[in-house]
Amino acid sequence: MSIYLDNAATSFPKPNMVADSVYHFMKNIGVNVGRGSYGRAQKAGEIVYETRKLLCQLFNHSNPEHVVITSNVTEAINLAIRGIVTPGGHVITSSVEHNAVWRCLKMLERDYNIQISTVPCDRSGTTDPEIIEGMIRPNTQLFVFTHASNVLGTIQPIRQIGTIARRHNILFLVDSAQTAGAYPIDMQADCIDILAFTGHKSLLGPMGTGGLIVKSEGMIRPQKAGGTGRDSLSPYQPEYLPDCLEAGTLNVSGIAGLGAAVNFILGETVEAIRNKEQSLTDYALNQLQCLDKVIIYGPGNPGKMVGVISFNVSNVPAVEIAYVLDEVYEIMVRAGLHCAPTAHSLIGTELTGTVRMSLGYFNQKEDIDRVVLALSEVLSKV
Ligand SMILES: Cc1ncc(COP(=O)(O)O)c(C=O)c1O
Repeated sequence: MSIYLDNAATSFPKPNMVADSVYHFMKNIGVNVGRGSYGRAQKAGEIVYETRKLLCQLFNHSNPEHVVITSNVTEAINLAIRGIVTPGGHVITSSVEHNAVWRCLKMLERDYNIQISTVPCDRSGTTDPEIIEGMIRPNTQLFVFTHASNVLGTIQPIRQIGTIARRHNILFLVDSAQTAGAYPIDMQADCIDILAFTGHKSLLGPMGTGGLIVKSEGMIRPQKAGGTGRDSLSPYQPEYLPDCLEAGTLNVSGIAGLGAAVNFILGETVEAIRNKEQSLTDYALNQLQCLDKVIIYGPGNPGKMVGVISFNVSNVPAVEIAYVLDEVYEIMVRAGLHCAPTAHSLIGTELTGTVRMSLGYFNQKEDIDRVVLALSEVLSKV
């Protein structure tokens, strides 16, 4: 049987109720939201609203209307950054961002002269919040931080960072791609103004779903314009949430699946999911450390990371290891830069990349045993 260890790219498998909900919507409801007043359109609207409510419950936000649905976290982050930062504005970010943040910022730097400061971090990828305060400028408009690195697994101290942002009245955007559903996030306690999430990773939902949860109206200027099903006479995009950031038909079947996924997570509890993933990470780190010639990157401490483990095998290219694991042992891991080049600059792997094994809620210790056995066989031949 094949083993899937690429959950940081997308989680697999999904809880059964996710596929069931998508199927049920497509088969039995299947109509657009906010475009018709017939009963089925209202039912579709209720499904979307229920998903917004469940996301609020998961992340401790009070207003479902502030949940903006997008097709993934990349779109959500682009909407937020482009809708907040103005030409000449200044943004503070981490040294381990995914290209969803990094390329968006670099394009604005090139095209609109924005200024970017990256907070230095140690080799494990942890940002020291103490440094951030001294980096604030009069034109600082935004802090944007990934909650956990998709290369090193490192969890950032977002509550401390959020507290600094709040103290200086600067907006705080968090990319929760690697943590939502798998690590506690409390928008209020963590002082998060805008939470960007993707539905298909640790939230266990379908691809093509994601979004923003926005603390208050007026924080983000609309970036898309189009039909919302309301106020159609107005030539401009409405100013209120969520319509100011949502235009066009939503992925309602995907949203039905996302609602089921969040329901599953709330039922299991984030705490139980975190405990299982942390203990699997602990086990995996211990097993990998026993192998000669395996270099493990990141904090090396399961309490300080999500279930994302990057490593290299000395003298063997990462892509080769991933290829052999797949071809010979039916084990799926990812090799390369994982769309986060700055994290690789930190650990000196920008030319080689790493092998990334990423654990999910449905993995078992036996999966890790199989990887370790496969790696020891590969190592015995190099
Ligand atoms: C930290 C982080 N941010 C953003 C993304 C982009 O996610 P999506 O492709 O769902 O937009 C990823 C995906 O790998 C990620 O790990």
